[in-house]
Parts: sequence; structure tokens; C-alpha cells
Amino acid sequence: MNLPCVIATWSFGAPACRAALEILEEGGSSLDAVERAANVTEDDPDVTSVGYGGMPNADGIVELDAAIMDGRRHTAGAVAALTGIRRPISIARLVMERTRHCMLAGGNARRFALAQGGEDTDLHTDRTRAAYAAYRERTDQPAVVHFDDENHDTIGICALDADGHLAAACTTSGLAWKLPGRVGDSPIVGSGLYVDDEIGAASATGNGDEIMKVCLSYRVVMGMERGMTPTEACRDGIAYLLRKRPDHQAQGAACIALRKDGAWGAAATQIGFDEMSRRWQHAYGARSVVTLSEGPYVARG
Ligand code: GLY
Repeated sequence: MNLPCVIATWSFGAPACRAALEILEEGGSSLDAVERAANVTEDDPDVTSVGYGGMPNADGIVELDAAIMDGRRHTAGAVAALTGIRRPISIARLVMERTRHCMLAGGNARRFALAQGGEDTDLHTDRTRAAYAAYRERTDQPAVVHFDDENHDTIGICALDADGHLAAACTTSGLAWKLPGRVGDSPIVGSGLYVDDEIGAASATGNGDEIMKVCLSYRVVMGMERGMTPTEACRDGIAYLLRKRPDHQAQGAACIALRKDGAWGAAATQIGFDEMSRRWQHAYGARSVVTLSEGPYVARG
């Protein structure tokens, strides 16, 4: 068995995996590892689709979605459309650990975050302010769903600790210029992430409006339960999405999976999402080594 280990979406998942490995190799829990990994990406202003420095909605406000799931207790916590708080995954964990609920949304998620000691923060950077100004110049219409170069998407992380327990985290600022109040797949258990400690964990990235219609992460974990390898389960989930939503293929989706024994896999609808030259990558880490891989891709239906 390849314990402990961690897998994350996109090339920006590499530093996140390194942070998770540091915790896992010291005997820390998968839950602490995925939270720490998510915080690394949430704090990085160069990742324009997660946390601080994420692209805003059509009103110019950065709205964050995040969820965390703990396989050991089969519990989860989530926040949706959270504004002005820097590390939404840590607020999601507080929802899980300090309330009887699974998800808090909007202004009341923010109220909870502030009451729990979360810091009121301006999530904009010079880059996001300039990008929003350019967007407003291009259009004064409400947001239409589209992906562009600034919107490279969600980080999803799955970790397996030395005790054999699984956890996952998923955090994003969602689609740039989205309609205010739009919530994607990332904070939804079964869509953006899912963990079953007896089977494995999965997380998704891409067009959340489509991913949530097929409960992608749940399907991937159930595929592993039925005996598929993690790669087969990811390919099956993506093929299912493409079959059910054939009109929405161009916007792209991908998923990662980590099985209870440390085997892992990934799949995507296409090479890159909005432009074919941009590769869809995921990061994998075990024994202090983090590597980047591409694809595999599931042919469009
Ligand atoms: N997958 C992120 C989103 O669509 O919001």
C-alpha cells in the first residue's frame, strides 16, 4: 500500500500536495492535510479561480464555495457564496465540527465565519480588479456561462493518511462573472467531492453547473465500489457526463480519485477546457515526491 499519499487537480495542486505531504509524513490526519493543502491554493493570488485573488461575479464581488469531507466519521461541512473571507475551506471545516449542519450559504455563512474568528478580507487583487474592469467594458449584460483564460478552475484534493483514513477538500471562486448567488458543484457533497472511508475519495473540477447534474464524485466512488480501478471509475464518470449532457461538452470537466489502498486515477473530458493547447494536469504526491501528470481524456460522445 502506498500510504500516505495525496492527489490534487491542476498543476497548482503541486504546492498544495507538498503541504499536505508534510502533514501526512509526520503522522497527521488526512483531514488536516487536505485543509492545509486547500489553504495553500486559497492564499495564492496567482490562482485566479480559488480563494484570495479569485475572479469575481458579475457584480464584481468574489463569492467562494468550499467543502471538506472526513472519511473517518463520514462527516462533511460546506460554505457557498461566501464573501470577504480568505480561507473558505477552514470555515467549511468549522461548519462540520461546530454545527449540526452541513452547509451554510451567503450572508449567513459570512456571519458564521466572522463569529468564529474569520478575518474580514478584501479578496480582490490588482489583477482581478483590472480583469473585472475589462469584463465590464466588454459587456454590460449579466454574466453568461463561459470559461476563459482567467478561469482555470477549482482545486480538489484527496488524501489518505498513514492510519488508512481518507479525506477530501474542494474550494473555488467558481465561474468568473457568474450570476450573483450562483453556487457550483464544489461545495456540494457527491458533486465536487465525495469520500467513503471503506472505498475511496473523489473530487471534480470544471463546469460545476454540469458536474452537479450527474453527481460526478459520488459516481466515481461508487464505480470503485463496483470494482473499477480509480482511472476506470473516473473515465466512467466523465463518459456518463458526456452522455447525459451532450450539448455542454465544450465547457469541460475532470475528476480525480484515490482508492482506499492508495491506488489513484484521473480523467477529463478534453485536453484543456477552453483552449486545446492548455493541458489538464493533476498532481500526485507520496514519500515527499510530488509529480504532475496529464489526462487521460475521454473522447467526446
Ligand atoms: N467547478 C467549479 C464551479 O463550477 O464553480
